[in-house]
Amino acid sequence: MKLPFKLLFKLPFKRIGFNRGAIARSLIALLLLCCVSLIQTPRALAQTTPLVLFKQALEGGPVDPLNPGDLSQLKDPLFNLVLKDNPATSYDAVIGRLKPKEQEVFVVDEHIVDRAPKVNGFPAERRAVVTFKGETAGNTLDQNVFLSVNFNSAKFPSSSSIEAMAWDETAGVFNYYKFNRSGTEATPSWKFRGSSKDADVLSTAARRSTCMECHINGGPVMKELILPWNNWHSFSDFVRYLQPPVAGEAVPSGTWPVRSPPIVPSKT
Ligand code: HEC
Repeated sequence: MKLPFKLLFKLPFKRIGFNRGAIARSLIALLLLCCVSLIQTPRALAQTTPLVLFKQALEGGPVDPLNPGDLSQLKDPLFNLVLKDNPATSYDAVIGRLKPKEQEVFVVDEHIVDRAPKVNGFPAERRAVVTFKGETAGNTLDQNVFLSVNFNSAKFPSSSSIEAMAWDETAGVFNYYKFNRSGTEATPSWKFRGSSKDADVLSTAARRSTCMECHINGGPVMKELILPWNNWHSFSDFVRYLQPPVAGEAVPSGTWPVRSPPIVPSKT
């Protein structure tokens, strides 16, 4: 979606007053834009029925259907339960398929102690990492599926985009997935974004625009080095504004509407 469209529009129109060449260039650019839209339309339509899992090597790069060879490599619980057949297309649908017995929501954010529900007039945003425990259709869930979503003071999650990683016990790798709208996709779709195989030996160039750019060892990033998020309750702040309401207790002022129904059942 981002770069090609912006550039095509911006450059030609800026120059339009200067010479004829510029006008010709802008017309060509517009023509190209139409061609790009025409070429991309079938893929956007193809996604609506049936739903399939795509692959995308690079952020913003080409989105292609996974071939049977690729598909046979994926054996993690997220793939088995959520992505294999007719991928779930919303956060709630993902949870509905995982059917976890327990769910843990970790709120990871530099501004965790700032409880203002609005910033510059907009609902304050946070990132949540969600993990699961349970046994669903022969798949053991034991903090081996991680979802990363944004939420705000009013809504959980606040966008349709989901980043996910899931441990494939057979291959001994994390598989990375992203649910988003990329390029000219009409609706968001799930993309396989690569596995952690040999992640630690990738060159800087090979990591660029992949998930391994930051997940450098192929595993979870836990930048809270003193207390990684899997060990929280933070001792520095109990983050009452995000905790579920306690029966019979007065609602403390400044709590976020999003806490009910509880999004932070046990830990923050
Ligand atoms: C620009 C750096 C960056 C890139 C690129 C990146 N991540 Fe992350 N990711 C992070 C950070 C930072 C966290 C939060 C860790 C924390 O606060 O402890 C995170 C967390 C996550 C988590 C929650 C588990 C964890 O690692 O703590 C998932 C799942 C995740 N990312 C998936 C992805 C996927 C899928 C991609 C590629 C589509 C991706 N990430 C690309 C930086 C990045």
